[in-house]
Amino acid sequence: MLSYRHSYHAGNHADLIKHLVQTLLIEKLKTKDKPFIYIDTHSGGGLYDLASEQANKTGEYHDGIAKLVNRGFSKSMPLPFAELVRELNADQKKLRFYPGSPLIAQKLLRPQDKLLLMELHSKEVEVLQKNLQGDRRTRVLNQDGFASLIGALPPKPARGMVLIDPSYELKEDYYHLVETITDSVKRWPTGTFAIWYPILGKQRDRSGWLLRKLEKICQSNLLVAELTVDEQQPEFGMHGSGMAIINAPYQLDQNIEKHLELIHPKIAKNVDGKKLGGWKIQWIKESN
Ligand SMILES: C[S@@+](CC[C@H](N)C(=O)[O-])C[C@H]1O[C@@H](n2cnc3c(N)ncnc32)[C@H](O)[C@@H]1O
Repeated sequence: MLSYRHSYHAGNHADLIKHLVQTLLIEKLKTKDKPFIYIDTHSGGGLYDLASEQANKTGEYHDGIAKLVNRGFSKSMPLPFAELVRELNADQKKLRFYPGSPLIAQKLLRPQDKLLLMELHSKEVEVLQKNLQGDRRTRVLNQDGFASLIGALPPKPARGMVLIDPSYELKEDYYHLVETITDSVKRWPTGTFAIWYPILGKQRDRSGWLLRKLEKICQSNLLVAELTVDEQQPEFGMHGSGMAIINAPYQLDQNIEKHLELIHPKIAKNVDGKKLGGWKIQWIKESN
């Protein structure tokens, strides 16, 4: 039984680094006319209302997207998908709507491109279908994202990217992820795989384990970008997160850094004038 709902967390610091990397990867794919496919294995609902009870129960977006938006949504929002946030909120006096990864992709893709979206939660998939309806490029599957990804590879068209964004609600998600990536890179060696992972308190953190596994599996290059907004907690708590990108395009590291430099000081916890956390971008494996 799945209990995680992304509406409690939409627009938090983890979404910002995830959607930043997702957007930069899509923009890079768009530099060639040839069609490409965008696959999202854990899609969520696609659009989030920040005025909802769920969003305000945690209030996580207050320390995320809300800190980047100025009154009147001025052009200085340091996000490559800023225009989309502005567009979604065009009729609002203050920030209300935040896009999920499928909607960001749907808005950015061109007529010749395709979207393949997977979501296992039966209620969440209904919301997703409603939010992304009426688009012939988009196919939504109410299926397990790990198993369906394997079945979909190699995709047609054979250029593209996969966003893998599990909730890590179950410990098994880490193992399923590693198994899925092992198989996927063999089936689609030229695909770009962007994997989100949480960075947790000392007792619970598995990010180091996951990155060591990915380094072993990866046959090409592996870029890692992390954003933390607080100190690591001794037990639980998510003070940051990262994106591990297999087959990352040239100069993606510099493009990510340019944005994180602007985002981090705006959203990091401030203690006595010092901003906690930081960002790290590293090629764990260079192309052979
Ligand atoms: C972190 S949320 C996704 C957020 C979304 N990618 C975004 O950035 O807007 C994770 C989603 O995965 C779904 N989920 C959990 N296990 C799944 C599985 N095995 N296959 C597909 N979806 C799953 C959850 O219901 C939840 O909606």
